[in-house]
Amino acid sequence: MTTRKAYFVGSGVGSMTAAFFLMRDAGFKGEDIKMLETLKIGGGSCDGTGSVENGFITRGGRMFNFPTFECTWEVLKEIPSNTEGKSVYQETVDFNRDNCKNSKSRVVDKNGCRLDVQDMGFTMSDRMQLLKLVETSEEKMGNSIITDWFSPRFFETNFWIMWATTFAFQPWHSAIELKRYMERFMHEFVRIETLEGIKSTVLNQYDSMIVPLQKYLMAKGVSVNFGCTVEDVDMEEANGKYTAKVIHYRKNDKMEKIELAKGDLLFIQNGCMTDASTLGSWTKPAELKGLKDSTSFKLWDTLAQKCKGLGNAKPFMSNTTESIWQSFTVTMKNPALFKAFTDFYMQRPGIGGIMTFKDSNWFMGLVIAEQPHFAGQPKDVNTMWGYGLFPNKIGNYVNKSMLECTGEEIFYEYCQHCRIPPELVHDVTCIPCIMPFITAQFMPRQISDRPKPVPDTAVNFGFISQFVEIPYDTVFTVEYSTRAAQTAVYGLCGIKKKIPKVHRYHKQPKYMIKAVKKAFMGGAGTLRQRESGNSPMSTFKKVGIAAVIGFVAFAVKKGME
Ligand SMILES: Cc1cc2nc3c(=O)[nH]c(=O)nc-3n(C[C@H](O)[C@H](O)[C@H](O)COP(=O)(O)OP(=O)(O)OC[C@H]3O[C@@H](n4cnc5c(N)ncnc54)[C@H](O)[C@@H]3O)c2cc1C
Ligand SMILES: *[C@@H]1O[C@H](CO)[C@@H](O)[C@H](O)[C@H]1NC(C)=O
Ligand SMILES: *[C@@H]1O[C@H](CO)[C@@H](O)[C@H](O)[C@H]1NC(C)=O
Repeated sequence: MTTRKAYFVGSGVGSMTAAFFLMRDAGFKGEDIKMLETLKIGGGSCDGTGSVENGFITRGGRMFNFPTFECTWEVLKEIPSNTEGKSVYQETVDFNRDNCKNSKSRVVDKNGCRLDVQDMGFTMSDRMQLLKLVETSEEKMGNSIITDWFSPRFFETNFWIMWATTFAFQPWHSAIELKRYMERFMHEFVRIETLEGIKSTVLNQYDSMIVPLQKYLMAKGVSVNFGCTVEDVDMEEANGKYTAKVIHYRKNDKMEKIELAKGDLLFIQNGCMTDASTLGSWTKPAELKGLKDSTSFKLWDTLAQKCKGLGNAKPFMSNTTESIWQSFTVTMKNPALFKAFTDFYMQRPGIGGIMTFKDSNWFMGLVIAEQPHFAGQPKDVNTMWGYGLFPNKIGNYVNKSMLECTGEEIFYEYCQHCRIPPELVHDVTCIPCIMPFITAQFMPRQISDRPKPVPDTAVNFGFISQFVEIPYDTVFTVEYSTRAAQTAVYGLCGIKKKIPKVHRYHKQPKYMIKAVKKAFMGGAGTLRQRESGNSPMSTFKKVGIAAVIGFVAFAVKKGME
């Protein structure tokens, strides 16, 4: 047992899992772990709250994956869930066994028709461009953007429509991140149209993951001081290395401080994707905020400017026009209205995954989760969640940008796209949520812009967030913050235990062959019946297969190098 203390900026899942690792692997006592959180609630970006009267709200719905999310499952195997006798991991495994995703309306067009999207819609030149992206090293790619690698046609393929809306990529985002996603989730590429590989928690992630984690940590004495905004950390430099000395934070408009003793550790949240996010209501649009309202990016920028080796916040925080999107949560007290949506979804709640409205100006998506989705949600009340990736654009039915819309107007736009009869629209509320930094982690950047979880120049502090550099792993995931947490804790405490490896499917011929087959023919590995049935193999297909074999041989050879 150590008497050292550990302090955290922020109380998101990254900080919480780091506290878990500090206690399990580094001998820290719970009461020596303290978090400072600017909000009045823990869990950070993994939120989920509300009531029947005011409406339920999640800023996001988080998709998980087996067997990736290696570090996350390692933690969640040890956290008791809301289900008696099961860990959060086991509860999630069991839930997904009974609720395996099988999207029937993955992509919908402007006429309300579901499109057959088994075929990725690639031309040979798209495939070659993809191959080139996968073959180029990150160092060479630098801060190039996705449009630097593909011709305009690529952005109209079924592949792009599904991949972009599943993971929230925009054409102007970092090409490195797209490449990492292609590699990390290569095993999901073959079933991207059914979303079979996407796993959900039983309720929203706050109720099913954060609450159990919180209970576990609190029981061990870990504490969070809410309403505290960390504005600066005094650093002492010696021989090019920095030691964190004093944490300066604002509480109730008063500056307060914590002095670190020798041996104490500090873990800093250097970038929060829901920073400066705001909620509106049925009658009020959400307020548009930006950098001046941020806490995490400002702190990172302050520290990076005064110390060497702490990365560069600017590429991520400087253009919210490119990192913004908007989500909303609908609460329906009218079961007939909910039924009209699930009829359009053509799948029972919980297994349809994301439905993308390909021709919608806002580039909208909708997800109907298994009900109830919130703790305390009564049986006759239903919820759903959606988003628009282009919130600056004027709607197809509402003559306003999504950002300017009230909950009612956003809901009206959705009802039109889903062909909902107007007489059903009553006893419903819709809460809009604007997130200016939601894809900040996808902004183009140089490798050196993200600090390591323990920077080479740091003595007693580390970073835990989506804005640190971890080889091969993909941001916009709970896993990334958990991996950052484990890496930072093990690094600062000198723990030699192994951190679970990032699975590397794209290096395994089995997955590579499947992916290449899919890229050429579509339909591989899906649950859906092909409409053409057992039609005889066309010459075209034979030529295709010959090309695949050549391509696989080439890819396997490259992969083995
Ligand atoms: C809409 C949406 C969809 C998502 N979809 C997925 C998905 O499908 N799959 C998936 O795995 N993940 C998804 N995520 C991402 C996932 O939720 C995040 O990656 C993860 O929660 C980040 O955890 P974190 O601890 O690093 O940071 P956060 O959870 O963002 O927590 C940071 C906390 O630190 C606090 N803080 C920051 N700076 C300061 C400061 N200076 N002083 C005091 N407090 C501070 C913040 O208030 C916040 O509470 C999604 C997130 C959103 C919002
Ligand atoms: C931010 O992005 C928008 C959209 O791409 C662009 O028009 C604008 O010039 C950018 N602003 C800055 C300051 O780079
Ligand atoms: C949309 O709104 C703008 C101004 O807000 C107005 O000039 C325009 O005529 C409107 N268009 C339609 C089709 O109503």
